[in-house]
Parts: sequence; structure tokens; C-alpha cells
Amino acid sequence: MDQDQQKQAVAQAALDYLAPRLERDSIIGVGTGSTANYFIDLLAEIHTEFDGAVASSEATAERLKAHGIPVYDLNSVGPIEFYVDGADETNPHLELIKGGGAALTREKIVAAVAKTFICIADASKQVETLGAFPLPVEVIPMARSHVGREIVRLGGDPVYRDGVTTDNGNIIIDIYNMDLSRPIVAEEQLNQIVGVVTNGLFARRPADLLLLGTDSGVEHIERPPA
Ligand code: A5P
Repeated sequence: MDQDQQKQAVAQAALDYLAPRLERDSIIGVGTGSTANYFIDLLAEIHTEFDGAVASSEATAERLKAHGIPVYDLNSVGPIEFYVDGADETNPHLELIKGGGAALTREKIVAAVAKTFICIADASKQVETLGAFPLPVEVIPMARSHVGREIVRLGGDPVYRDGVTTDNGNIIIDIYNMDLSRPIVAEEQLNQIVGVVTNGLFARRPADLLLLGTDSGVEHIERPPA
């Protein structure tokens, strides 16, 4: 299977996992990106079997609505059982880098609320140690230079993502060459910088289940005990 076929296969695997677990009043958290888009398109087939969704980006909200799936404000719903989203990298602890599509803050919020975070990813996303993919950080625009200097102090190389404004009206700085061998520590250090909204490390709240596309099919990988 090529990368695109793997994305489609893991989206289908997520649907197969969810379908028997949904109730008529279920709200599903839905992520952002090309893999999540495949999932949204499949979700449309069973949209009468659950209530609706909470979206992690404006783009996802539009796609869900186009399929006739009701989209709710997170503040207007109760518990969310499942959140389904892609990733830019995952390590064996199912700690992730996310935010390649600049939606990291809303993704992190929905992931925090959901009881079960199902990550859907093709094999290229699996790594031993996070950090080959530049780590996205959402930053309040007026703090750009300050945050950049603090990132250098932490050992990273900050690069402003030109021309990108997040759904929250902020900018993205991508960090290259930072030591992410202790993801929870790095996540906390970066979030301590004044002006950072959040960063794309999902280590304090990793995925619970990884559906990984491979040449030979989809692997179901549960997060190992801490
Ligand atoms: C969006 O901001 C990201 O976190 C995506 O989930 C991530 O970039 C994965 O995207 P693809 O599914 O397009 O590879």
C-alpha cells in the first residue's frame, strides 16, 4: 500500500472500531488533515447512527457540515467518548507531534476532553524518537520575536511559518533541531514561554490507540502502560 492507501485504510479501521461503540447521542471529536479527511468522508456513511461532531478546525467543520453531519461547539456538549485524528509523528509511547496543518491548539483541546484518543497514521509517521518533523508552536503575533529567542535558549532553531494564520488568529513557529527525547519535559518548557498558546507535542495527553497503516495492513497499537 502506498501512503495514500494507508491513510484510507486507517480511516476505514477507525470507522470499523467506532461504529459498534456509538450511541444515538454520541458526539465524536474529529481532527484535521488529509487522514482525518478520509475519516470524515467515511463517517458520512453512518451519520444517522450518532448525534454529531466537534471539529478541531474550521476546515474540518466545513467538511463535516458538507456531509450533513451536525457540528457542535465544544462548550455546548457533554462528555466526548472518542477523538479521531492524524499525526505528523508518533513514538512507541504514542506521544505525538501534531500541527503540520496549524490546527494544533484546537486539536489539543478536543483531545484533552475526549476519553479515548484514536490516532490514525500511515507508516511514515512512526519514529523511535520525536523531532525529525519540525515541532509547530502556536504563538500570539506580538510575542513572535520573544518566543523565538526563548526557543533558541532551549536549544531549538525557530522558523516563522510564513503566510499562515491559525483559526485562532495567531502565527506558527516551527522548531527544528530541538532535543525532544523527553517529550513531556519539552512540552511543558515550551508552554511556559509567555506568548506561546500551545505547542504540537502531545505527550501529557498522548493517543490511547494508534491505528497504523503498513504495507501488510492496519496494526492496532494500544498505548503501553507508563
Ligand atoms: C493538523 O494540524 C495536524 O496535526 C495533522 O493531524 C497532521 O499534520 C497529520 O496530517 P495528515 O493526516 O495530512 O498527514
